[in-house]
Formats: sequence, C-alpha cells, structure tokens
Amino acid sequence: MSWAKHQILEKSSILMLVMILIVVAIGGLVEIAPLFWLSSTIEKVKGMRPYTPLELAGRDIYVREGCYVCHSQMIRSLKDEVERYGHYSLAAESMYDHPFQWGSKRTGPDLARLGGKYSDEWHRAHMIDPRAVVPESVMPGYPFLAERELGYDDIEDRLRVNAIVGVPYSEEMIAAARTDLELQAGVGTEGLEAFLAAYPKAQVRSFDGNPDRLSELDALIAYMQMLGTLVDFASFDAAGPNLR
Ligand code: HEC
Repeated sequence: MSWAKHQILEKSSILMLVMILIVVAIGGLVEIAPLFWLSSTIEKVKGMRPYTPLELAGRDIYVREGCYVCHSQMIRSLKDEVERYGHYSLAAESMYDHPFQWGSKRTGPDLARLGGKYSDEWHRAHMIDPRAVVPESVMPGYPFLAERELGYDDIEDRLRVNAIVGVPYSEEMIAAARTDLELQAGVGTEGLEAFLAAYPKAQVRSFDGNPDRLSELDALIAYMQMLGTLVDFASFDAAGPNLR
C-alpha cells in the first residue's frame, strides 16, 4: 500500500479497527481451524487413570494451599529439564486435571514426577518443617495439615463434578468414593480388590504414619506419591501414535 493510501487507514480509527479485526481473524483461523481436522490433540498413553478419591482430595488441598504458586507440574522437552526431572510431561498426564497444575513459576522444583522420589517419612518431615530436611529451604511449613482431619463428606460430589467435565468416573466409582478413600488410607480391607481393579497402581497405606486418623496430610502425600507414576513409559513411543 502506498503511503497516501495508508494515511487513510491511519487517520480513521474505525477503519483501522475493522482492518485489525480482519487480520486477527485470519491469524485465528490459521491457528484454530486445523484443530478441527485432528482426531485428537492428546496422544493416547497407557496407564493414565482418573485420580483415586484420596488422591483427588489431596489434589484439592494442593490447590487450596496454593502450592502451584511455587511449583510447576510440567517438564519441558529440554535436555536440562529431562535430566533433572525425568521424562518430559505428556498432554495425557494432565488430561484429568481440572484445573491443570502446570504452574508458571518455579520457586521450588517441578513436581510432575515426584511420586516415589522420597519416602512418606521424608514428606511428613518436609511438610511439617521444610528446614528439618532441607536446611536452605525457603518453603513455608504446613504443620497444620497433619493435625487437621480430612473433610470428605462431599467426596462423591467432587467425583461427580469431575465426571461432568469429562473425567471417566463411572456411577460405581462415584458410589464407592467414600469407602475407596478410606480403603486407600488403610482403613479396612473389604472391597480392596475392587478398588485396586478400578484404580490400577493405587498405593494403599496410612500416608501420614498415623493409622488411627485420616488427616489432610494423608491425602496430600497420597497425591504427591502418585505424581508422574501412572504412565507406562516402557510402552510409550514418542515417534508416533501410541496405540500399542
Ligand atoms: C513460597 C514457595 C513455596 C510454596 C508455596 C510451596 N513450596 Fe514446596 N518447595 C519450595 C522450595 C523453594 C523447595 C526446594 C527446597 C525444599 O526442598 O524444601 C520446595 C520443595 C518441595 C518439595 C520437594 C521437591 C523435590 O523434588 O525435592 C515438595 C514435595 C514440595 N515442595 C511440596 C510442596 C507442597 C505440597 C506445597 C503446598 C502445600 C508447597 N510445596 C508449597 C517452595 C515452595
């Protein structure tokens, strides 16, 4: 466009606005339209399952306490990250997260593959007073989590809400939510097999070290010990659709 013609555009804010909208619309179409022709934007992986009721309750505490303000759960496919944290995060790994916990700041390390890295005892000591195990830590302590009883009267509803937004919780899973939550924390054994069949790889024990009481720490540690442990990386092939 010659200078004179461009002047017309620059002197009329309405015309400028209309042209901007047209340019942005074209940009949007180029980015968004191809998604309609993809069968899926999330590669299928083996091993992902919805959170157990106890893990879900722990996740809710993680969100409530704002752990995501200092911790990400998203390992990028860069060499330094993969060497430090393990396999980069897959889209499928956060497909049952509502809302997702990718985070945008790392005051502390990424937690996407935290499960199994430390013992429950370590987590207990660390959550109560981080400096007891990491002297230079700037993380705040959360000693009250071990004292507070876990509230889970509404656990069925929490599963149901997740089912509404697409997490494949069945009616049976929702109906069994309360017993499943207690079973995983080591309360009782009746129905344990059905629980483990519904939630493969679920870890069952008293996570806070006090079997007499179901604390918020039980749920939080159950959640942390599961993070990043579900996907079967032995059968994951980054080169192509993973349908094996
Ligand atoms: C003010 C920032 C901050 C907040 C909020 C915070 N952390 Fe941390 N976190 C840190 C820092 C810094 C470290 C590294 C030092 C350490 O291990 O304590 C850390 C380390 C950790 C580790 C050890 C990770 C590893 O791989 O070594 C875990 C687990 C953890 N935090 C969990 C949590 C949980 C759960 C919450 C919420 C209840 C939380 N953090 C809230 C800053 C924070």
